[in-house]
Amino acid sequence: MADHKNKDKDIDLHSGVETTGHEWDGIKELNIPAPRWWLVMFAITCIWAVGYWIVYPAWPTLSGYTKGTLGWSSYKKLAEEQAEITSLRGELAAKIKSHSLEEIQNDPELYAFAIAGGKTMFKENCAACHGTGAAGGRGYPNLNDDDWMWGGDLESIYHTIKVGIRSTHEDTRTSQMPEFGEILKHDEISSVADHVLSLSSGKGDSEQGAAIFKQNCASCHGDTGHGGRQVGAPNLADAIWLYGGDKASIMQQVTNPRHGVMPTWETRLPDETIKQLSIYVHSLGGGEADKPKE
Ligand code: HEC
Ligand code: HEC
Repeated sequence: MADHKNKDKDIDLHSGVETTGHEWDGIKELNIPAPRWWLVMFAITCIWAVGYWIVYPAWPTLSGYTKGTLGWSSYKKLAEEQAEITSLRGELAAKIKSHSLEEIQNDPELYAFAIAGGKTMFKENCAACHGTGAAGGRGYPNLNDDDWMWGGDLESIYHTIKVGIRSTHEDTRTSQMPEFGEILKHDEISSVADHVLSLSSGKGDSEQGAAIFKQNCASCHGDTGHGGRQVGAPNLADAIWLYGGDKASIMQQVTNPRHGVMPTWETRLPDETIKQLSIYVHSLGGGEADKPKE
């Protein structure tokens, strides 16, 4: 046996190291044992792996998997993280509730939270009438521009959303443009429409129309037709139209006016949501800084 083993032992002539005995076309492999540090590391990782199997979920079984002694699970971790977010959200919502609109606007964290929440709530509650981007449509005002019937500062927007316009709320914003079809003759309506058109285009004014306007319309729309916010009378001099800016549409509105209805949200949405919506709508581009003197 010893003889046989000796014969098997093949020493490399150049390095003096034993070879594995494998040979390929005269090339032999030296039999160098793995370094000690490597073996130690290997042993440690094996032990680590076993420990890991014991404390963490690891192996599949027929009916599930080994749960591990720590009871850790990714679902539990997710639930914990979500609970954290929810409580943070509750905290911010409570802050929105207890802070004034101005304070929210001046606090970057609250402001960002209000905008994000307002945007989502707008899609859910307002987009059906005002459009997803709040650009409005015929009869539904564009909330991106700086043309406001009832006011574009934070407080006014908040009040509009809260009580609505011609809504069921007892303090609703309301006004009624008279039906001039029963007051003015057809040609008078035609000439006042010419005057209204001239306010934004500067062309085709009618003397008769201007006089009729002064007498019948200026009380709400203002002497120069720039609108009156106390009664939600639109600016007629800015070429932004709720019901159309051609002569026929204007005559129709004067003859038989429509009265836009916007629901009250006080009973449907919590106050903090109405605040978030106000901040969001105000941020859309047409928001006014201060409450204008009326
Ligand atoms: C059922 C349709 C409808 C829904 C839903 C609706 N609105 Fe309105 N909103 C209107 C109409 C119509 C007017 C214009 C009323 C008028 O003619 O004075 C208006 C006017 C407004 C104004 C006043 C604009 C101005 O020029 O002063 C604001 C602000 C506003 N809406 C915000 C909202 C917000 C925020 C929501 C969601 C919470 C919302 N609206 C949901 C129909 C709607
Ligand atoms: C009592 C106040 C009041 C008086 C008086 C009044 N209006 Fe109006 N007018 C309004 C209100 C409020 C609206 C907006 C209606 C709505 O939002 O649905 C309006 C809307 C209009 C519009 C539509 C504007 C648009 O953007 O599409 C025109 C045009 C108009 N008025 C012209 C006149 C003319 C012309 C007269 C006089 C003959 C007149 N109004 C008298 C309150 C008034």
